[in-house]
Amino acid sequence: MIQIAIMGLGTVGTGVAKVVAENARQIERKLGEPLQVKTILVRHFKDGPYRQLMTDDFAKIEEDDAIRVVVETIGGVEAAYEYTKRALNAGKHVVTANKQLVAERGCELLALAKKRGVNYLFEASVGGGIPILHPLTQCMAANRIDEVYGILNGTTNYILTQMVRTGAFFSDALREAQQKGYAEADPTADVEGIDAGRKICILADLAFGRQMDPADVPMEGISKLSLRDVKIAQRAGYRVKLLGRAVRLGSGRTAYVAPHLIPEERPLASVDGVFNAIVVRGNATGEVMFYGQGAGELPTASACVADVMEALQASPRRDEIGWEADPAGFQDPRELQSRHYFRIDGSLTDAAMAFGKVEVLSEDGETAFLTDPISGLEAAERARGLRVLSCMRVLG
Ligand code: HSE
Repeated sequence: MIQIAIMGLGTVGTGVAKVVAENARQIERKLGEPLQVKTILVRHFKDGPYRQLMTDDFAKIEEDDAIRVVVETIGGVEAAYEYTKRALNAGKHVVTANKQLVAERGCELLALAKKRGVNYLFEASVGGGIPILHPLTQCMAANRIDEVYGILNGTTNYILTQMVRTGAFFSDALREAQQKGYAEADPTADVEGIDAGRKICILADLAFGRQMDPADVPMEGISKLSLRDVKIAQRAGYRVKLLGRAVRLGSGRTAYVAPHLIPEERPLASVDGVFNAIVVRGNATGEVMFYGQGAGELPTASACVADVMEALQASPRRDEIGWEADPAGFQDPRELQSRHYFRIDGSLTDAAMAFGKVEVLSEDGETAFLTDPISGLEAAERARGLRVLSCMRVLG
């Protein structure tokens, strides 16, 4: 019998307990022994099926030699960081879905895990149930990764989809996403692009081998997005999606999160609801796309439990993940070139005066148009004298 502990019993923690119980036979067949949740760390005791397993004392996990893997689903940094360090120091593998902790302290925790001869695995921290970190670091290992981009937040993709499909209000769609267990405890992180920002940092860490500091990465969410722009874009053959993007630039690299117009023929344009899709561009493979449910109880738990199984099977530990702690070499993402969408309080003449040739998408007092490919810096400079109502990049 292999015993594990779960820290935190929110959406993902509950999902882990369910997957371990419901898929017990399949897991046992692969591990050669049954897997059992022995202890669950909670802040407040609750009645329910796991009541007997609950403790509010982390030492009960730390000092229990029978517990070989700890699944951290507390979220945030403070307690999660402290308990993760203590669990690793106690010689236990740690598996997590906590993207904030991995984005901010992952490098240090990986180094500690290495020192202690155990694994720190976090497949569930990006893309929910989508296998992405393993393929990126293993299956694509023979590539130089030049770019990673995609729809990385299920909550905002769900909100955008509901608003477009059913005309739902932002607040109603957000409430639904919360009820379905997609949103963070504080959904500001979803709506303002911070959750997607943490995920693009983790992808960039692994893809480029150097710390991407979340504090360097501009993150814009969907709270300021106007339904009017979504509709204009749609009539012109584009979908608006919140993208995280990380790009290798010479010896440096950059990353950002922002809403984009995506041409409707691109596969990303039809990724709807809670689904995420991540595109990795390797110099040998070209673009490879990973698609699946990016949030929710069972998809995310599936990634956690697979990591638990891997931690137990990796003998003695999986060595190939990690990156350099130094965040040097970050470049301003506004240097990246793309077409830009603008809606201005002004005429086509105003637009043409500022940008030269433009493609008009709508003209009715306000003017919506697309520029030729230019850098973000140049777009801002040229738009300086205009009354800009909205601006987004177009995915090339
Ligand atoms: N709140 C996150 C999302 C959960 O909506 O994508 C999965 O990381």
